[in-house]
Amino acid sequence: MADKKIDIAKNTIQKYIDFLRCPLCETRFGFDNYSVKCQNNHSYDISRKGYVNLFNGYTKITRTYDKKLFTARKKISDSGLYSKLCEKLCEIINNINPESILDAGCGCGNLTVDIFKNTGFGTPRAPSPTIAVDLSKDGIDYAATDFCEDNLLWIVGNLNNLPVADNKIDVILNIMSPANYAEFLRVLKPGGYLLKVLPNADYLKELRHFIYKENDKNEYSNKDVLANLADNITISDIIDIKYTHKISAEYIPALFDMTPLTLNINEREKIKDELTSRTSFEITLAFKIAVCRK
Ligand SMILES: C[S@@+](CC[C@H](N)C(=O)[O-])C[C@H]1O[C@@H](n2cnc3c(N)ncnc32)[C@H](O)[C@@H]1O
Repeated sequence: MADKKIDIAKNTIQKYIDFLRCPLCETRFGFDNYSVKCQNNHSYDISRKGYVNLFNGYTKITRTYDKKLFTARKKISDSGLYSKLCEKLCEIINNINPESILDAGCGCGNLTVDIFKNTGFGTPRAPSPTIAVDLSKDGIDYAATDFCEDNLLWIVGNLNNLPVADNKIDVILNIMSPANYAEFLRVLKPGGYLLKVLPNADYLKELRHFIYKENDKNEYSNKDVLANLADNITISDIIDIKYTHKISAEYIPALFDMTPLTLNINEREKIKDELTSRTSFEITLAFKIAVCRK
């Protein structure tokens, strides 16, 4: 019989326990049955669903990034929306040939799993953990329920106080998520890589146009994010990716629900009805991958 998810998660944590640290007191973890316990007895249970919650604060994130958003994000991702972005990330990662990956802000893990499967991290070469962290418990719960494998560790955690030990990680992925560069530099090995993915101005432009019409919210700029990135870490390369994806009627509701863009808009249901009455919708995907070095 296949191992239970809680045992898969426990085995992976056991193998890579040195990669983790307590978010409260920064000491190393040991084991206490199905919990990890630090040297000051802060204890965190491993969920039977196959993840560990190493965040014990309060967050409003879950109001935005909830189960509904993640269900839609997973569905639209399965339609191939992010395939070309993933292919490029896998190519970069395979060239680096890292021994450890941290996905900081992994959401429901749709991209994490694709990258895990297509970079050799899914094969039992040791020691090669993929650690995926997100503050949204809904996101991590969804991710672990969907895909739970040896060497892939799902963690509810805060990227502003990563539950990861110093100088351990070869590659950090930070895909369309907030960043904390001081934390990223702390956990990266010397010479380690940060692959920061930001949306370019054209990202989902047809959807933005559909929602906001001529309103100035229609425009998006990543200038400030890029400037902040350059102030904090050495950027060694920037790769732009742009493609269009034709979304069939079946997936249009998921496109609408998968982004915070559509959350607090006027006449939300009316706009959604208008969009979902289409037989297809062509959408632009445009990203910048900033390849950065510690
Ligand atoms: C736009 S989603 C991107 C998710 C995923 N990387 C993807 O591309 O599908 C942004 C994610 O950042 C997470 N997030 C926001 N603040 C965070 C924090 N302080 N620590 C960890 N995750 C955070 C959210 O919960 C959300 O899942």
